[in-house]
Amino acid sequence: MRLIIQDNHDQTSKWVANYIARKINLAAPTSKKPFVLGLPTGSSPLGTYQELIKLVHDGVVSFRNVVTFNMDEYVGIPKEHPQSYHTFMWANLFKHIDIRPENVNILNGNAPDIKAECQAYEDKMKAVGGIDLFLGGIGPDGHLAFNEPGSSLASRTRDKELNYDTKIANSRFFDNDVSKVPESSLTVGIATVMDAKEVLIIVNGYNKARALQHAVEEGVNHMWTISALQLHPRGMIVCDEPATYELRVGTYKHFKDIERNNLDPDSMLNSDLVW
Ligand code: GLP
Repeated sequence: MRLIIQDNHDQTSKWVANYIARKINLAAPTSKKPFVLGLPTGSSPLGTYQELIKLVHDGVVSFRNVVTFNMDEYVGIPKEHPQSYHTFMWANLFKHIDIRPENVNILNGNAPDIKAECQAYEDKMKAVGGIDLFLGGIGPDGHLAFNEPGSSLASRTRDKELNYDTKIANSRFFDNDVSKVPESSLTVGIATVMDAKEVLIIVNGYNKARALQHAVEEGVNHMWTISALQLHPRGMIVCDEPATYELRVGTYKHFKDIERNNLDPDSMLNSDLVW
């Protein structure tokens, strides 16, 4: 696993956006062979999305031949709800870039047949050749997408109840009223994410420090589903300084040292990406 430690969240966002742009450009995607990108919602990727929008406007990267799959969606709120992940993605990324609407895939939390919806999502990912890069964030309890603590590390796309911690964390988007947060979701599974050719997770802020410590220093454990990243051949976390507060000094210094030539966000646009 790689751990890229940035000074602050703005730098993190810039690093990740430049990295994604570089990956897309190196792949030189076409409509027949698109670049397939997995995407999260939440506050963690917001800065990255703003940076990507700038890169598209500056002509550095194009999403015309990029196909996206979002990680998750709430069940039980309409697609048009201000807090649905459909609304979030269109408001914060898709409507500002040159992506073709037919290339956007987001689970339908109101599908009449949930099992069929989830299976079709998995099938569609396979049909386009699998995910090239899965971008993600994590919850304070280390959940990835909506794979709450105790989720099977072999899980695939399915419906999943939200735990109390997650409802509390997400209540900030629902007038700070936990009772307004949906009870369940559709989410890709841990194995779905691990099938991607590469996984990049953004972690920022003190409230994610415990989760980062478990992800990097503790063993693979279903109570911290992000820890499954240790089993991925190309798993990377990009974090800010506050998120590192629970890491051992030695761990921090180790990653700062081995990644010392890869920390400058600007250099990512021309990087050979060092895998
Ligand atoms: C939700 C989403 C996750 C996201 C997490 C963290 O629970 N299902 O995909 O990573 O929130 O959100 P934030 O980045 O806002 O802290």
